[in-house]
Amino acid sequence: MTKLALWLALVPWAIAQTTPNFTGVWELNPAKSHPTRPDANMRIKIDQQGPDFGVTFRNVERGETQEESLKFAAGQESKNQMHGAPMTSHTEWDGATLVVRSVAVFSGKELRLNNRWSLSPDGNTLTFVERHQFGDSPEEEDTHVLDRRPGNSWEPSAPPKLAEEVYKNIQIMKGVPAPRLRLVMTNLTTWLGVRCDHCHVVNEFEKDDKPAKETARKMFKMVRTINQDNFPGTGPVTCWTCHRGQAKPQSLPPQQL
Ligand code: HEC
Ligand code: HEC
Repeated sequence: MTKLALWLALVPWAIAQTTPNFTGVWELNPAKSHPTRPDANMRIKIDQQGPDFGVTFRNVERGETQEESLKFAAGQESKNQMHGAPMTSHTEWDGATLVVRSVAVFSGKELRLNNRWSLSPDGNTLTFVERHQFGDSPEEEDTHVLDRRPGNSWEPSAPPKLAEEVYKNIQIMKGVPAPRLRLVMTNLTTWLGVRCDHCHVVNEFEKDDKPAKETARKMFKMVRTINQDNFPGTGPVTCWTCHRGQAKPQSLPPQQL
């Protein structure tokens, strides 16, 4: 073989080598991370198959385990929910570093994330540098250094807590998983074109002081009944069907109002 042919034969190997496999169970090393958070308890489980990444975060805060699973695909756009907010991500390899750029929208404000994942040469340390910028706040950077843990150290997921176990004043959403309640709340703002404070005393979400909250409860029951009585099994009617981004839906076409 000529030198050139040898080179060419090695090229595919060299390219394959530049995209490492992050599959495994990883635990935050708070001492090596920046900013250091000695009390932080975060683990990440990654399943990587070809371009597809399944990433599950588990955080323990004040004795409560919070879990969130995201899916990404290298070279593609992916849609996920982050803390109940819709998030769009673009994922690509930059050499041996996986770059995930995401925008999540929390009540109209954008959280922009630029995350870079890389593996140490021995494969036992995963570094995840997160640049985040929310609304008009200045950009910040966190470095999370994670150590590899045995694959069997990841316990199966506990079923999510129900809304009534987490929140204080649940009347109509009993039996709904708590993360789902947050998602519904975020959707309500879009469907009705309002903010949280239309229905809530902010930061005292359990209070029933605003009439719109009680109206919303009645509307949920109404929508349930409409669907059960007319569209069994499919449930196509939602708040959006009538509201279309307005607090008060139109009853007649505009020229007849
Ligand atoms: C259109 C009215 C409406 C809007 C807008 C709305 N909510 Fe709610 N929210 C409700 C209703 C109704 C309940 C009670 C559900 C029940 O009784 O099961 C509730 C319950 C909650 C609870 C549970 C409180 C507790 O402890 O019982 C939280 C938290 C919450 N909402 C957060 C939000 C957030 C955050 C937003 C904005 C992103 C929001 N909500 C927007 C109507 C609304
Ligand atoms: C069948 C049509 C229809 C559907 C579906 C519907 N609504 Fe309504 N909603 C109305 C109408 C009509 C009004 C306005 C009544 C008025 O003019 O006083 C209204 C009013 C409201 C109001 C009071 C608005 C204000 O000024 O504060 C809230 C809150 C509300 N709806 C929440 C919801 C929620 C939440 C859902 C989904 C669970 C929903 N609605 C689904 C027809 C609908």
